[in-house]
Amino acid sequence: MSETHWLTVVMPKGRIYGDAVRLFRRAGLPVPEEHDESRKLIVPIAEASLRFILAKPADVPTYVEYGVADVGVAGKDVLLEENRDVYELLDLGIARCRMCVIGLPGRKLPIYPRVATKYPNVASRYFREHGQQVEVIKLNGSVELAPLIGLADRIVDLVETGRTLRENGLVELETMFEITSRLIANRVSYRTKYAQIRSLCDRLAKAAETAAAGGAAG
Ligand code: PRP
Repeated sequence: MSETHWLTVVMPKGRIYGDAVRLFRRAGLPVPEEHDESRKLIVPIAEASLRFILAKPADVPTYVEYGVADVGVAGKDVLLEENRDVYELLDLGIARCRMCVIGLPGRKLPIYPRVATKYPNVASRYFREHGQQVEVIKLNGSVELAPLIGLADRIVDLVETGRTLRENGLVELETMFEITSRLIANRVSYRTKYAQIRSLCDRLAKAAETAAAGGAAG
């Protein structure tokens, strides 16, 4: 197949990447080992007629919406925050965690609390739907600092193992929703490259099923 017909897959760098690559390998897609350590941002996988591009997790839906990637792997957290016009094809069941409201234990809330988060849209929507007026402060990481040093009364953030909370004396006050990573597709690509995208999706679905059924990790 000529390179112009390859599928371009945008993968998130960071915490999801390892799980996503393991799932692709389980699906029989030969992601080269050396890729894990490399800093290359575009990686061709000729045997599978795929091209991986590596992006910041929050940017994955943007690449897919604009069609520079045909498909991508994105956390549900990012999809809810970015609200991009893409198809969500499959729950990959990886990078499982939860979005939570977090705070210091036993603190009374002021009338107009401040909430720090990497997810201002998700947080604003949540508190609006719960009839609570809050001021949302956008941070880009290490959000747990905010209540410790008095920037915010609450934070909205991901909890996976709970270790970050424990080590900083914070508690989970409300679980907002569960999160996993999803396979998403560009709307035009889904029509023009339908067979290739379906085939990738079906292979990943089978791999995800085996993984969920307790198949060997990795
Ligand atoms: C995420 C999240 C929490 C932490 C939760 O941060 O924002 O801080 O992981 O994981 P745990 O429950 O297993 O401790 P990340 O590592 O992505 O870095 P960041 O704080 O810079 O966003």
